[in-house]
Amino acid sequence: MNKIIVGNWKMYPTLSDSLVLAASVKRSLEEIQGVDVVLAPPTPWLVPIIDSWKHRLGHIHFAAQNIWPEDQGAYTGEISAYMLKNLVSYAIVGHSERRRYQAEENDLIHEKVQACLKWGIKPILCVGESKKMLSSDGKLDAFHWGKVSDQLKEGLAGVKAEQLERVIVAYEPVWAIGTSNPASPEYALQIIGRLKAILTEKYGASAASLVRFIYGGSVATSNAAEFLKYPDIQGLLPGGLSVKSQDFIKVCQLAAKLG
Ligand code: PGA
Repeated sequence: MNKIIVGNWKMYPTLSDSLVLAASVKRSLEEIQGVDVVLAPPTPWLVPIIDSWKHRLGHIHFAAQNIWPEDQGAYTGEISAYMLKNLVSYAIVGHSERRRYQAEENDLIHEKVQACLKWGIKPILCVGESKKMLSSDGKLDAFHWGKVSDQLKEGLAGVKAEQLERVIVAYEPVWAIGTSNPASPEYALQIIGRLKAILTEKYGASAASLVRFIYGGSVATSNAAEFLKYPDIQGLLPGGLSVKSQDFIKVCQLAAKLG
């Protein structure tokens, strides 16, 4: 299966920045094979970006950075999966910045996953521990591991085995996000292994293997290959890097090579 690189542009680029960035990614990656590229611009820029492309490409997809689970209604400021369904193929749900600033809890995130699946959007469920959950030796004790595993279990509650191939789990240790201090690939692999074991226990090995696990947190051109070389890390979710077009393109090219 191709590696997947999801560029989370967060609230960084203006409309004109976004048009230039998207055009540059498209131009450079138009012919690339063996990688799935996903761009997650600020939501209002999705339509102008898509309109500026003469045609959409099979391997460069769009994602929403967030969705609301209800289809329509009195939810001021929100945009539903139903409304985004023809614009995006993926949606990031449960990002740590939303858990932190919007106080999103697992039950809401679970509803968001369900709404994505209902409307044909692939959810990218983010899970990961904060710094204060780590003990002084940098490990996760059983209690705090329970919190991380709950993010996965509750986020994916109710997902059926046949829906798993549409699910992506992004392991993003919160302490690694935007810090220039990524997790070591070995540490990320170990947590991903434990997360996969939860799904294997629930769904069986063959169904669970359909879920793609990716890593996010201070991904850089200097460390991307270290993560991507492992088959169990099926992609990356860069934030800051993804708005630097040349760096993002380089990481996508690496992923195509190492996929
Ligand atoms: P970062 O962000 O690459 O800037 O650390 C990753 C993320 O928040 O998804």
